[in-house]
This record gives sequence, C-alpha cells and structure tokens, in this order.
Amino acid sequence: MYIIDTHAHYDDERFDGDRDELLTSLSFHNIGIVINSGASMKGVRDTIALTEKYDFVYGSVGIHPSDVMELEVDNAYEELKSLALRDKIVAVGETGLDYYWDEPDREIQKKHFERQLELAREIKKPVIIHSRDAAADTLDIMKSLHAEEMGGTIHCFSYGTELAEEYLNMGFYLGIGGVITFKNGRKLKEVVDYMPLDRILLETDSPYLSPEPNRGKRNSSLNLPYVAEKIAEIKNISVEKVIEATYDNACRVYKLPRA
Ligand code: NI
Repeated sequence: MYIIDTHAHYDDERFDGDRDELLTSLSFHNIGIVINSGASMKGVRDTIALTEKYDFVYGSVGIHPSDVMELEVDNAYEELKSLALRDKIVAVGETGLDYYWDEPDREIQKKHFERQLELAREIKKPVIIHSRDAAADTLDIMKSLHAEEMGGTIHCFSYGTELAEEYLNMGFYLGIGGVITFKNGRKLKEVVDYMPLDRILLETDSPYLSPEPNRGKRNSSLNLPYVAEKIAEIKNISVEKVIEATYDNACRVYKLPRA
C-alpha cells in the first residue's frame, strides 16, 4: 500500500531546479500517486503538462481565490472547462475564499467560487476547496449551491471541530498536512482526533507547510510520513493503518485507479 499526496504544487518555480529528479524519486519512497493542484491559469496549464509527462501524477484544475481576477477575461471558463474535462484531471480546484488578504474584492471571490462550483456540477467532478478566514461565507455558498452533490475535499483544513462536523455531514473529506505536526496545531489535532479515519486525506500543499522536523524548508511529498505518523499517534493506531485508510479514501473521492 502506497501513500497518495492529494494536494501539491509541483508546477511551483521552487521546483524548477530538481523537479524531474524529485518526482521520479517518489516511488522509491512509497509515494505512489500525486495530485497536482492547479491554482492559476499558468498553474493549470503546467498541471496538465505534468499529468502528461508522469503516469503517477494526476491533477485538479481551478483558480485559487487570490488569482480569480484571471477569470475576469473572455473565454477563461471555456479553457478551464476543457482542461477540467480531461481524464487525468480528478477534481475542480483549488477554489474557494481567502479573506486573509484584502484583494481581490470579496464579492469577486464569491462570484468565481460559485462559478467554479457550478463547473464541477456540470462536469460531474468533485471540488477541492480552499478556505482561509472565510468560514461562514464558504459554508453558506457550499450549502446554497448544494456542494454535497459534488463532494470533495476541504484542503488544508484550518477550522475547528464544529465546522469539521458541518463539512463531514455534507460528505466532504478533510485534507490534513504539515500543520498537524506544529506545536501550535492544537485545534487541528482536536479535529483529527474527532473525525473518522475514513474522511482523512494526506496532503502536503508542497512547496508550502513543511511538517516538523522540516518546518520552514521547501516541502515535498517525501515529508508525508511525518504527517501519517502524527495522525497515527493522535488516533492511537498504526501508521500502516493510516496509510491504508487514506489510500482508500483518496481512491474513493477522486476515482483513482487502485494499484
Ligand atoms: Ni494548495
């Protein structure tokens, strides 16, 4: 049973120096599948290229809330849709709301979050949600657009158990990454303790959010065992059990081929 990294950004320029070497090394470290998450128009096109070059790389296609001004141009949605329809693209995203930054305007973020949810519905693929400091509006929009019918993942889940319960009740999975190993990650540890194992996905968000003991360095899928170990510790089960369950979960939600 291998590890699946359900959220990484290997199109990021921080991998320009060693991308091929790093990606081809993953299978020797039991990382069997990576889902590369497109987050800008360039990121989306680069994601497609990665899925064409590497068998084990799948992708998601969407525009991060910080970059949605890119969708304010003609034909942006036509291109997004045609790329999202490809076989190795398993989800629409990341899409959502990010109120940590003042830009873009919240109304514009909401509009493009809604449109991307509608795209997921239209092409019948799950969604990968990014939500930061925007808990109430994210949930409102997901409920009003019946996101439970598309399903998917709240990536890099950062809220507490009450919101976790809301998303779990909608059938969503929660992406758990490096933050679970942080000393100040108490809230997320409570969520992992609370939630059922069959809704947890392992993710890195590489190159961001490297777990301890590599916090602050460039992240990669090679760090996922630290995340799996921490989840095992919190849930008082074996690491093998965490890897097996999260593998099943990722295959189920993203319809990935089983090894
Ligand atoms: Ni991300």
